Amino acid sequence: SGGTFVPAVVVGTGYGAAVSALRLGEAGVPTLMLEMGRLWNQPGPDGKVFSGMLTPDKRSSWFKTRTEAPLGSFLWLDLANRDIEPYAGVLDRVNFDQMSVYVGRGVGGGSLVNGGMAVTPRRSYFEEVLPQVDAAEMYGTYFPRANSTLRVNNIDPGWFERTEWYQFARVSREQAAKAGLGTTFVPNVYDWDYMRREADGTVPRSALDAEVIYGNNHGKVSLDKSYLAAALGTGKVTIETLHQVRTIRRQQDGTYLLTVEQKDAEGTLLATKEISCRHLFLGAGSLGSTELLLRARETGTLPDLSSEIGGGWGPNGNIMTARANHMWNPTGTKQSSIPALGIDDWDNPDAPVFAEIAPMPAGLETWVSLYLAITKNPQRGTFVYDAAKDRADLRWTREQNAPAVAAAKALFDRVNKANTTIYRYDLFGKQLKAFADDFCYHPLGGCVLGKATDNYGRVSGYENLYVTDGSLIPGSIGVNPFVTITALAERNVERVIKEDVKK
Ligand code: FDA
Repeated sequence: SGGTFVPAVVVGTGYGAAVSALRLGEAGVPTLMLEMGRLWNQPGPDGKVFSGMLTPDKRSSWFKTRTEAPLGSFLWLDLANRDIEPYAGVLDRVNFDQMSVYVGRGVGGGSLVNGGMAVTPRRSYFEEVLPQVDAAEMYGTYFPRANSTLRVNNIDPGWFERTEWYQFARVSREQAAKAGLGTTFVPNVYDWDYMRREADGTVPRSALDAEVIYGNNHGKVSLDKSYLAAALGTGKVTIETLHQVRTIRRQQDGTYLLTVEQKDAEGTLLATKEISCRHLFLGAGSLGSTELLLRARETGTLPDLSSEIGGGWGPNGNIMTARANHMWNPTGTKQSSIPALGIDDWDNPDAPVFAEIAPMPAGLETWVSLYLAITKNPQRGTFVYDAAKDRADLRWTREQNAPAVAAAKALFDRVNKANTTIYRYDLFGKQLKAFADDFCYHPLGGCVLGKATDNYGRVSGYENLYVTDGSLIPGSIGVNPFVTITALAERNVERVIKEDVKK
């Protein structure tokens, strides 16, 4: 068999990957993590590791010539985007025909760019989505384990009520209440105590300096500070960065042989390596893990993979929308970039919605109330392998998002009616558009648990091959997904280490 041999390889360094590596390391298994993005720990010329949201440079984006911010316009003017040099930046927008998917690139995956909202799903909906998973075990053991290892914490409600930084959220809460809608505080991995000190002016600002989608320079406990730091601390785990896994082949002795491209941060190919392992854990995310398996199935390197690979994909019902407030209802020139409240209407049988009250930290008064609505959309997409481009293509149409838009509209029509307000049409591109239905932050599915894998993420058709990330979840989970991805990975890896690795 070829290549350098390591007992276990983990592809990616996001949530599923980080959980797997930590637990393998604790079990004494030498484990190599391969991450296509950079390690984000060196300050750039401005003294900061990450570039800011309002002044993005090449560090912001994964090999683009212009940034592609989700809120691309304001009064239809493209104010937020900048021309940049192609670089291994931290946020990628993967553009398929009718859906764009934002993902994090770097050691920590999505944890580097996300809003840190750490939400445990409602148990009844978890049971509906993953009925074959023992919910008592999840809610008794694995969700608590995920929440504590991720260092999830809660905002001090007293501070929330008085700080100018959450005026935007209080305004939205009041307007929701007028429509009879309740809100709930959303836990986070951003250190709320640090944020208070930012407000007091005693520490460098991050959430209070509009940092989030291109990385937080302070305050956020991303995976490199939680799971991955612990994994490295076992002494058994190593991480290779700017290493992208391209192909996976099973060898005669049952080990897996990977071809891996090592590049520099400008994208120049430095080496193509062969690495082999006995146990292979795919944590490259919904897009990444699904693409690796589709390529392997379609090019014949893993011909026995199930036809279920590629199926069951969904954007977690993500729809962004914004309302225009009256002049007497400003949302504030100071807005924390970390959301703290959600409108919870998930029990509405007609159109369940959980809507994050999102900031729009533009540094000037916008009178905008922005929301990321998570809706329950039964539509699913499918990844197919495009041989000519050697990549996974997503079969998903805009019309498939119509149920999600309808649910978000039903809720915000109520809010608008109760407050005599209207939608904003200028924020999501050049055309008149009140609902952003063409991008998502929460890609889920592609290698669904119990379909493309067994009930613990073991890939059907092959031994010692596992999927550990968001691709296991069938398209929807009703809340922001990373706590569920983490807890499910904890459950699965515990079983796999006991039954497969330590046997
Ligand atoms: P994840 O995508 O985190 O990690 C995959 C890693 O694998 C990446 O680092 C990638 O570079 C790497 N990789 C991919 N292919 C590879 C290959 N072939 N070789 C080597 N490496 C490869 N969720 C939430 O719960 N609360 C929130 O507030 C938010 N907010 C939010 C904002 C934004 C802007 C985004 C983009 C996303 C969110 N999310 C979120 C979503 C959340 O970040 C997401 O669900 C998880 O990061 C997914 O975790 P995974 O483990 O599936 O993969």
